[in-house]
Amino acid sequence: MAYVEPPPDPKSEKKKSKAGFVRVRIDEGEQRQIVIQKAQIRDVEEILELVNGFAASNLMLPRGPQYLYENIRDFVIASDRNVPVYSLTETHEVLHMIVACGSLHVLWEDIAEIRALAIHPDYQQLGLGSKLIEFMKDEARQLGIRRLFTFTMTEAFFKSLGFKRQYRNELPPKVWGECSRCPKYFHCDEVGMVLEI
Ligand SMILES: CC(C)(COP(=O)(O)OP(=O)(O)OC[C@H]1O[C@@H](n2cnc3c(N)ncnc32)[C@H](O)[C@@H]1OP(=O)(O)O)[C@@H](O)C(=O)NCCC(=O)NCCS
Repeated sequence: MAYVEPPPDPKSEKKKSKAGFVRVRIDEGEQRQIVIQKAQIRDVEEILELVNGFAASNLMLPRGPQYLYENIRDFVIASDRNVPVYSLTETHEVLHMIVACGSLHVLWEDIAEIRALAIHPDYQQLGLGSKLIEFMKDEARQLGIRRLFTFTMTEAFFKSLGFKRQYRNELPPKVWGECSRCPKYFHCDEVGMVLEI
């Protein structure tokens, strides 16, 4: 007996690009009204789509719903309204769409980790990543945290925001907590970066 994959849902195929993201048409010079705020339970599904869209290309760690629900208070989102989404055959408006997310996870008394920072491909290079980091920096300061840490493959982005590379033997033991759950454990290609705030 041969097992045959069910055919893809033609509707969802139509709206998604090759990399799995819907495509958004932002005209040159167009000003969008993006709102940055703390995430809520209702945002979990969209955050998962964003993060796992990049995880599929190995750019970040995949996350599941349990992680999202347990850590939802760490998450910040950026959302856009009346988003012009297009495919080869149609353009339509999505009333509300999460276009970026990031999370601030407290590790110890003096250090918190930036995790799951993801900007939708059509909203990159617009300063959104920097704004989310600013938002989380303020949160960290309010909590009394003095140091931010991240593991990343996009060193240049964090460097532009003042983060400095730290070698593995300089990193505090607390930062390794997630590594044992990471699929890259035996061939890690991420660098550790730290920012004093
Ligand atoms: C990396 C990422 C978060 C950057 O967000 P962004 O909103 O595009 O970045 P910004 O527009 O705020 O850029 C800030 C600065 O970083 C630079 N920068 C942004 N992405 C960069 C990249 N991939 N490589 C090098 N530099 C980058 C910008 O050119 C800009 O520099 P400037 O101030 O000199 O002009 C975003 O591209 C992304 O989500 N990538 C896919 C997922 C990922 O890699 N996440 C990080 C996991 S830790």
